[in-house]
Amino acid sequence: MLIAHLTDLHVRPVGLPAYRTAETNMLTERAIEAVLALNPRPDCVIISGDLTDNGLIPEYENLKRMLSRLPMPVFLIPGNHDRRENLKQVLADYPGLTQHPTYAQWTAELGPLRLIGLDTVLPESGAGRLCTERLAWLEERLAEDQARPTVVVMHHPPFTCGLGHMDRIALIDGRETFVDIIARNPQVVRILCGHHHRPIQAIVGGTLAMVGPSIAHQVVLDLSGAQTAAFNFEPAAFHLHQWLDETGLVSHTAYVEKAPGPFPFLPDPDYPGRPKA
Ligand SMILES: [Fe+2]
Ligand SMILES: [Fe+2]
Repeated sequence: MLIAHLTDLHVRPVGLPAYRTAETNMLTERAIEAVLALNPRPDCVIISGDLTDNGLIPEYENLKRMLSRLPMPVFLIPGNHDRRENLKQVLADYPGLTQHPTYAQWTAELGPLRLIGLDTVLPESGAGRLCTERLAWLEERLAEDQARPTVVVMHHPPFTCGLGHMDRIALIDGRETFVDIIARNPQVVRILCGHHHRPIQAIVGGTLAMVGPSIAHQVVLDLSGAQTAAFNFEPAAFHLHQWLDETGLVSHTAYVEKAPGPFPFLPDPDYPGRPKA
């Protein structure tokens, strides 16, 4: 079982960049190319929010057109840049998006794994929220199967990471209860997040929470606590999670852009470990 975890596409209507600088439509197309070029191809793709930049219908229509190139199931949750009503309307045929009457959250069975997508959107806010209704929903879903390894997907990271301006808009509301729920459910083998636009990991409730890098622009690495938000074009990437019976879930980073190589490991004649002729 191989899962590609992409995040923070910030798709715009056809022909428009994001923030007048980031060609997010082109960057999304490029990431889709990179997924299609993988060997083996992932069994599914998860995209953890900020699917579009402004949650507009033409943005979701553009996103839908681009995602139609992916032949495997694509699981979507919203981020703070999305509008869940528009997402649920335009991409209604995507798995799970109409499962919940209000929120864009769902469960899915995926070979040996169970996926739970969680909607952390607080409308009109950059920060994330898990209200009592969503927390109760999560607890009920986790109680349905405590034996199966489970991956929880959510946009807003549920931990403080040291990027000052992003910590202000992380999962602010409901975090403590969320962490308690995760701690009581050791079948949760990963929490996959987006939002911070760079790869960050921490242990949350006893399990590994991973923020995926954006496939578009990255947030500047600044651990000074400064509240100034800025982005750059460090290499775009995504995560690949492979279930291996010997280990469990193993997580890799795949870069979107091609790098020089591959080159063979030709042994240097002076290498001390070289087999004697
Ligand atoms: Fe984002
Ligand atoms: Fe976000």
